[in-house]
Amino acid sequence: MFRARTAIFLIASSLAGFAVAQAPAKQPAAAPQAAGVAVPAQATAPAAGGIQGQNIFEVKPEASADPNYAKQSNGERAKVQPGNNAPMWRQVGEGVTGYSSLPKSEAPEAGNLIQPFVQYPGSRLTNAGEAWRQVRNNWIIPYGGSLFLIVLLAIAIFYYSKGTIKTHGADTGRKIERFTPFERAAHWSNAIAFSILAISGLVMAFGKFFLLPVLGGAIFGWLTWVLKTMHNFAGPLFAVSLVIVFFTFLRDNWPQKGDLHWLAKGGGLITGGEEPPSNRFNAGEKLIFWGGVFFLGIVVVSSGFVLDKLLPGLIYERSTMQIAHMVHAVATVLMMCMFLGHIYLGTIGMQGAYKAMRTGYVDETWAREHHEYWYDDVKAGTIPAQRTKPVDPPGQTVQA
Ligand code: HEM
Repeated sequence: MFRARTAIFLIASSLAGFAVAQAPAKQPAAAPQAAGVAVPAQATAPAAGGIQGQNIFEVKPEASADPNYAKQSNGERAKVQPGNNAPMWRQVGEGVTGYSSLPKSEAPEAGNLIQPFVQYPGSRLTNAGEAWRQVRNNWIIPYGGSLFLIVLLAIAIFYYSKGTIKTHGADTGRKIERFTPFERAAHWSNAIAFSILAISGLVMAFGKFFLLPVLGGAIFGWLTWVLKTMHNFAGPLFAVSLVIVFFTFLRDNWPQKGDLHWLAKGGGLITGGEEPPSNRFNAGEKLIFWGGVFFLGIVVVSSGFVLDKLLPGLIYERSTMQIAHMVHAVATVLMMCMFLGHIYLGTIGMQGAYKAMRTGYVDETWAREHHEYWYDDVKAGTIPAQRTKPVDPPGQTVQA
């Protein structure tokens, strides 16, 4: 973008210079002619100010022999090599900020074409735009993409070696209300917004490697534009529903007895042993809640709000956007990896889990096998088996 602008600027200034160079040559010729004296046009060239044309054949290459040549300012260079603006462009490339009459509050970077040098983590010391590009292309894209694929592969291997975690005992037909309609509405709003964000984000970041060669530039460009627009709108919906999900499920995600034991046994997932008893949510779910929903949620949402320019009072400079982008990209890759595990166990990974979040009810056998302490509390009457006004799921009787 900046290169294009610079090119347009250079072409425009060359044309302007050319036009000015053409114009004054005609004016002085009139006087001597009137006096009947023939004077060579060059000798009469005006010493007017402003932009001067320069014949490329008159540039003096030997001027570079001066030991101070490299230290010359643009004005000094113009005296020995008119039209050579290298000192000015060198300064521009080093991030110098020139004068701009535009107000700082509205155009904070109007006087600056190329950002100053920085070294972002993982980049060389170079101008910030290039440093950001290096972090994105050399780290976030290859390592973020690899991590995502490794997690996908690990889940696939787990699925093909262990299969779906099944309920061992027979269903009793007695149901416990695991999620109220409000909890399910909050969860699914969040999950739908998350899916839109994850798919559109993946296409924006990695689509050029796996979709562009298949779809071609025209369709890929259009698709990415649509997905980018959806991403920008789904972001705030995700943020709001995430806050609701957080407060809805907070009460049952505090550390409780049995959590450490559950973690020490890896939930029985790896060894294939008995699933350790847990409360309404097990320690694995709690880790995803605090790590994914709470911590990564704050990082992802706040950096996303910066990228959407939704935070009032913040000055959105290029460096602000670069930093927000790097933070957002790293946090979202981690979040997607965490939620891949959650989505796996919530769908094909565990029998009865998806039905629980879809209908709100689980069988007593499922509750006893996967969340034994919670089941005990329900049986003891500490937690009601039916929390909302009973609505029998089709063909099933709800135990009040
Ligand atoms: C996109 C597909 C998703 C599917 C299929 C899915 C599925 C499920 C299922 C089946 C449960 C019930 C688990 C149980 O009974 O213990 C659940 C619980 C939950 N899900 Fe999801 N989910 C998805 C996305 C998300 C997202 C994006 C978030 C948050 C960012 C999320 C946050 C939660 C929370 C907080 C719980 C309650 C468990 C806890 O608090 O530890 N889910 N999900």
